[in-house]
Amino acid sequence: MTILGINAYHADSSAAIFVDGKLVAAIEEERFRRVKHWAGFPARAIEFCLKEAGIGFEQVDHFAIGRDPKAKFINKILYLAKNPGGSFSAISSRLKNSKKVASLENELATLSGLNPSFFKNKINQIEHHRSHLASAFFASPFEEAACVSIDGSGDFTTTMIAVGKGNQIEVLDSVDFPHSLGIFYTAFTQLLGFPHYGDEYKVMGMAPYGEPKYVDNLKEVIHLKNDGLFRLDLSYFRKGTEGIISYNEEHIPEVQPVYNNKMIGLFGPPRKKEEPLTQYHKDLAASVQKMTEEVIFHILNSLQKRTGLKNLCLAGGVAQNSVANGKIRANTSFKNVYIPSAGHDAGISMGAALFVHNQLLKKERMPAIKSAYTGSHFNNEEIRQFLCSKEIHFCQLEDEVLFDKVTDCLINGGVVGWFTGRAEFGPRALGGRSIIADPRRADAKEILNLKIKRRESFRPFAPSILKEYVSEYFEWSDEVPFMEKVFPIKESKRKEIPAVTHVDGTGRLQTVDKELSPRYYQLIETFRQKTGVPVLLNTSFNENEPIVNSPADALNCYLRTEMDMLVMENIIVSRTALY
Ligand SMILES: [Fe+2]
Repeated sequence: MTILGINAYHADSSAAIFVDGKLVAAIEEERFRRVKHWAGFPARAIEFCLKEAGIGFEQVDHFAIGRDPKAKFINKILYLAKNPGGSFSAISSRLKNSKKVASLENELATLSGLNPSFFKNKINQIEHHRSHLASAFFASPFEEAACVSIDGSGDFTTTMIAVGKGNQIEVLDSVDFPHSLGIFYTAFTQLLGFPHYGDEYKVMGMAPYGEPKYVDNLKEVIHLKNDGLFRLDLSYFRKGTEGIISYNEEHIPEVQPVYNNKMIGLFGPPRKKEEPLTQYHKDLAASVQKMTEEVIFHILNSLQKRTGLKNLCLAGGVAQNSVANGKIRANTSFKNVYIPSAGHDAGISMGAALFVHNQLLKKERMPAIKSAYTGSHFNNEEIRQFLCSKEIHFCQLEDEVLFDKVTDCLINGGVVGWFTGRAEFGPRALGGRSIIADPRRADAKEILNLKIKRRESFRPFAPSILKEYVSEYFEWSDEVPFMEKVFPIKESKRKEIPAVTHVDGTGRLQTVDKELSPRYYQLIETFRQKTGVPVLLNTSFNENEPIVNSPADALNCYLRTEMDMLVMENIIVSRTALY
């Protein structure tokens, strides 16, 4: 039984393939197209998944598309009738979307060379939030769990709560567009001068520099409800339409301003790009983050009381808020939390396929998905051939010698591009396609920003830590395999790893498991043996682009920046002599 999951015509388009319930491959289309959040039809990702499974289109039993234009159709019509001012673009956007989904058969036919009729009865349209929920629950280790999906919007829903049991998810309630925690966060991301799709994490990074002084004002804009959910005061928002996010000719998502003049009246005009970030902006960011956490914990606590369950599965764009995720256990009665590596919309392809496998076909649950390494991979021979074709000088070393050279480089202040095994599925580099540095150096952040990243100085870098040492370095102990949670670093350890300690003493950690990431684990272990510190600074291997996918992308990034060393499997390219 083969199921191909697809997230198409939506930001972070992607594909994932399951063979007999086992995840064989999952990857975002942006990695091939080299355009961030690429939102068209994921032809390259689909071809990659089929190749990894060693099959052709004709052997796929089910295609699972994570979108259902018929979902909440009546609610949409009622909304449009009540909001005639914003209805034109809503209707046109909705029609365009339905057409695109309808054209999926044709796209698949063109790509495969098969007749469109072959696909007709094989395509399953799985509603957006059910796909999110499935990406978390059916991938989790839990037999039973409370499930929550929160994002901007998808299929006219912005939040969905459910209970997962065995191979079934039962939806309990949902919030209709435009009442959206994602849209709330986006409004302030835009007001703070970050207009691009996916900029919300910048606000999260800036929040610790401010005080949450404006939470009471924000309570005018978003209201907690007794039903355990929330509503927006829509008088602060631009007349809502489904066209808030549109996709331009290059398939890049664009977000229209979602606030209106009343919002500006309360919080001031939007910061222009060239204007400095003031303490007011930082305080507003802190307030937005705090309010968002209040809403999330309100939803979670009421669902926990309603279900009595101790396990939680969380997905959707808002579940990428790693600061809030880290505080869940301290602020709710949930004891165990599973968040997939691709909790955002790329995970829709995986979720839709899991929904078909479990909910529709009622197949047996498969073991939990603990690894995010489902993407591209290249062996030493392929890398060598590529570098030879480019006339790049390199050397190939056995693991032990290589780990020694790389850690020496790091200890001497070097920045290393680390490319090993399969690429990660999701927005976080987890030691497969990472740039690494010495976390003990107070100047590592400046060095990285100077040599490579050139990003906002307020944004933190993250620690990868050997799993066994988490309780030694962090206030809380848990497995965080996908860098999906931020924890406080122990006061006594903050000075030891300043480069990965944020201004509020926290770190967005990745716990590194020997079984799941053997080479990355061994590299950090070598660093620990030399320095006593079982931690590396880990940031994604890219420079204003999607994370590198191939040796060519990695070499390009290395040559474009001032990275000191590029390591691909056992092969090292270095700016200085190694011996
Ligand atoms: Fe979503």
